[in-house]
Amino acid sequence: MDLNSNRILIAPSILSADFGRLREEIAAVEEAGADMIHLDIMDGHFVPNITFGPPVVARLRGFSDLPFDAHLMIENADRYVEAFTDAGVDMISVHLESNVHLQRTLALIREKGARAGAVANPATPLEGLRYVLDDLDYILVMSVNPGFGGQQFIPATLSKLRDLSSMLGEAGRDIPVQIDGGVGPGNAADVTAAGADILVAGSAIFGNPPYGEVIGRLKKEGDRGRKGRGGRRSGVRG
Ligand code: DX5
Ligand code: ZN
Repeated sequence: MDLNSNRILIAPSILSADFGRLREEIAAVEEAGADMIHLDIMDGHFVPNITFGPPVVARLRGFSDLPFDAHLMIENADRYVEAFTDAGVDMISVHLESNVHLQRTLALIREKGARAGAVANPATPLEGLRYVLDDLDYILVMSVNPGFGGQQFIPATLSKLRDLSSMLGEAGRDIPVQIDGGVGPGNAADVTAAGADILVAGSAIFGNPPYGEVIGRLKKEGDRGRKGRGGRRSGVRG
């Protein structure tokens, strides 16, 4: 899986799918051009909501060829990394806010064979990423406070994405940036112009069938925004 694609990648979040038909929903977005499946794992502690865990992921794994991208909104993430890699997850992201020994957690994710990502909530400064850039395969910027699908995009995220692009450019790193929360065709070009490479979208996709049409629009708008930014990352070749 090439996370450093020249195209914008689309990651449908099954949080907004019909949970009674997860297998069919995943097949439908795969058929519709999704690049990965975003799995929102919530524990009722770090976030107020509870979703699903490794056994559900392991079962779904057999029904799709797409990379599985687990976004862990849980406490004690280290304790569950192996359960998720055993379940067949290809990417795991963990929150800056809930992982005190972040470098160790990221190293563990890689050791278990998955791509390692760090996530920052809307109010969390980017500074916490600066010294773990070597340990990161991608960065997830939250554009809503995690816990629920269907929330409004927080506009300040755009300047945060630009700041992150500058930070990565100055460090000479071309680390893919994922954006999650309130993303749809209407703001896809704005977020990619500001530096996002992978768009997570839940309600914008599962709430607007047919999926092929909405995923196509997300890709088109996303690529248009990235063209405006002139390449992958300022200061970094690519
Ligand atoms: C929020 C989750 C998101 C959510 C996005 O806690 O991390 O992945 O599913 O849903 P939308 O796209 O509806 O904001
Ligand atoms: Zn998510």
